[in-house]
Amino acid sequence: MVRLLLALALLLVGRLADAATVKYTFTVGSMQINQLCSTTSIIAVNGQLPGPSIEVNEGDAVEVKVINNSPYNVTIHWHGVLQLMTPWADGPSLVSQCPIQPSGSYTYRFGVPGQEGTLWWHAHSSFLRATVYGAFIVRPRAGNAYPFPAPDMEVPIVLGEWWNRNVVDVESDALLAGQLPAQSDAFTVNGKTGLLYPCANDTFTAVVEPNARVLLRVINAGLNSHLFFKVAGHNFTVVAVDAGYTSNLNTDTLVLAPGQTVDALVDTAAAPGSYYMAVQAHDTMSPLTFAASDTTTATAILQYNGTSTSPPAMPAMPSSSDAATANAFYFGLRGLGTPAVPSPVDVSMTIELGLGQLPCDPSQTRCNGTAAAAAMNGVSFRLPGPQASLLGAHANGLAGVFTADFPDGPPPSGTAMAVGTKVRKVSFNSVVEIVLQNPSAVPTENHPIHLHGFNFFVLAQGVGPFTPASVAYNLVDPVARNTIAVPGGGWAVIRFVANNPGMWFFHCHLDPHVPMGLGMVFHVDSGTTPGSTLPPPPANWVGVCDAQSYAAAAAAEVAPAPALSPAPAPALAPASAPGPANSPRAAAGSPVIPPRAVDHKPSPNLPQHRDGGLPSSRSTAGPRAAGHLTGLLCIILLLFVLHQHKA
Ligand SMILES: *[C@@H]1O[C@H](CO)[C@@H](O)[C@H](O)[C@H]1NC(C)=O
Ligand SMILES: *[C@@H]1O[C@H](CO)[C@@H](O)[C@H](O)[C@H]1NC(C)=O
Ligand SMILES: *[C@@H]1O[C@H](CO)[C@@H](O)[C@H](O)[C@H]1NC(C)=O
Ligand SMILES: *[C@@H]1O[C@H](CO)[C@@H](O)[C@H](O)[C@H]1NC(C)=O
Ligand SMILES: *[C@@H]1O[C@H](CO)[C@@H](O)[C@H](O)[C@H]1NC(C)=O
Repeated sequence: MVRLLLALALLLVGRLADAATVKYTFTVGSMQINQLCSTTSIIAVNGQLPGPSIEVNEGDAVEVKVINNSPYNVTIHWHGVLQLMTPWADGPSLVSQCPIQPSGSYTYRFGVPGQEGTLWWHAHSSFLRATVYGAFIVRPRAGNAYPFPAPDMEVPIVLGEWWNRNVVDVESDALLAGQLPAQSDAFTVNGKTGLLYPCANDTFTAVVEPNARVLLRVINAGLNSHLFFKVAGHNFTVVAVDAGYTSNLNTDTLVLAPGQTVDALVDTAAAPGSYYMAVQAHDTMSPLTFAASDTTTATAILQYNGTSTSPPAMPAMPSSSDAATANAFYFGLRGLGTPAVPSPVDVSMTIELGLGQLPCDPSQTRCNGTAAAAAMNGVSFRLPGPQASLLGAHANGLAGVFTADFPDGPPPSGTAMAVGTKVRKVSFNSVVEIVLQNPSAVPTENHPIHLHGFNFFVLAQGVGPFTPASVAYNLVDPVARNTIAVPGGGWAVIRFVANNPGMWFFHCHLDPHVPMGLGMVFHVDSGTTPGSTLPPPPANWVGVCDAQSYAAAAAAEVAPAPALSPAPAPALAPASAPGPANSPRAAAGSPVIPPRAVDHKPSPNLPQHRDGGLPSSRSTAGPRAAGHLTGLLCIILLLFVLHQHKA
């Protein structure tokens, strides 16, 4: 009996360590915050800025109930989570769902199989992501190690952009006038400006032990600014970007476009003391006369335990226009070489990013003749009207919500910008290659383009116009990302496998450019096998935005939840088994293998080390639901103890 119980208990411990369902409740509402000498009312999650960090292990199922107590429509996007077979949990308003209306709620249910690293979450409706954001950390499941020496400590560094105003008003002022919004008033590190701003009395401080290996999980949650990030007296070893492992990149400067993340190790081997972590804009506008960034500096402090905080050393920052430093970082990133780059290419596109002007729309009541506009391949993207989301229109066979005629290349030069809700239909498992071309006409600007639903390989990038014959692609160890900073006046070539059915937004992550039209949508069909065919959407999802659908979904929200099972361990390809099994192309019929490096090949410059997964320096904000397995385990252990006691 005892042996049986022990065996059962061990089995359950094994299951528990494997994967869990992790639950959070996010209440979106107003809060007051003191920043830059004034009190501003903002919309935030659970009264926190940043909002709670989501912390899970690879393979876990995640459930986030979002309750909207704000006066605005809102949705949450889990930036970089692939949402394999769960497109209705992706979040962009009117693309994958109708917004959660004031007083409404929606429970997002999805898994994170085959993904490890630092991601984040943010509002994907209007300008709300300026304050509705937080970290989304995926650690290896128990028993799996990082492909680099395990850190002694982890510190999430969420970089934000701050306005001394209601950000919904900042955006609507800009939209009504057909202009770009006012620049931000400050940058923040974990919600705090640091001491270089007026009235600043609050700084994020990370207390570290000397001679420790610290993993900084850096996220650019800003809306409109590429950011330089440095720590005085310390260098970084970059080990991952956008939750994809990289080979080690040693640098003293990180640069992150809005939407991007960087995991960087810092050795605390400097003289004991305090060191500023500093954040400044990288203004990519060229020529410089067009530069219009917030020129302020946010700081946080890296403090060696037991030393005084003042005065911290300040790092020498690059000049804001230093594209050479930024490009050295962006172009220098390499992946681990697995899985293999998919080929051959089935769908080959060139997407030209364009900024320009359109006649004012009648709704733009303060607009003066023409409005600032943007386009991909000459089409200025418009979200559908408030009646239906794209995924809802598709799921319900509603005609007239979008057209499937997004062009595969730019129109002849001089063609007037068109307006439309155009998608590119792609069949399941196609290999898609895109040349992203930024126009070279002045002024030029670096646009960070974000793909929902997939990671892509970055095969090549450069400045000037793309000339196919003279460009060598990296098909050996390209970096995998979800957001690519396309150099001002330059280009980038990306490739991904369309192994995830749904409606996937592909758009500029400079937030003001989204309503201006700098986006398009990939519509990926279901495959022909059961494993590649989308199941019916969950009953609590609103795809068509009418009162009847909202009411039906609200009823389903309060009904007992269908369980979403965590992913089994084999979702990660074993390091010893490269080749076809690892190739995303081979994933037909089993769409859970994403087109990115997820196996645990050791990084070239660092020896493979012991297990990782140390707790974060910040506490988990949501309750981690260990679930019914823990309960069972407790009962069995109790039985076991009672049995021992009797014996
Ligand atoms: C910062 O200053 C404001 C206004 O004086 C005050 O309300 C707030 O409590 C201060 N915060 C800290 C951390 O000292
Ligand atoms: C950082 O790297 C640079 C260039 O390799 C080197 O000169 C410098 O000494 C390093 N600094 C530290 C603190 O390791
Ligand atoms: C700092 O040192 C003190 C005393 O040794 C210790 O109690 C504390 O846990 C340390 N703090 C951190 C963050 O390591
Ligand atoms: C609108 O255009 C007119 C004429 O060009 C100009 O005088 C006026 O200042 C403009 N108004 C705004 C709000 O830009
Ligand atoms: C909120 O969303 C609904 C559904 O799309 C729409 O009808 C309504 O106009 C939106 N409200 C605002 C203030 O945008």
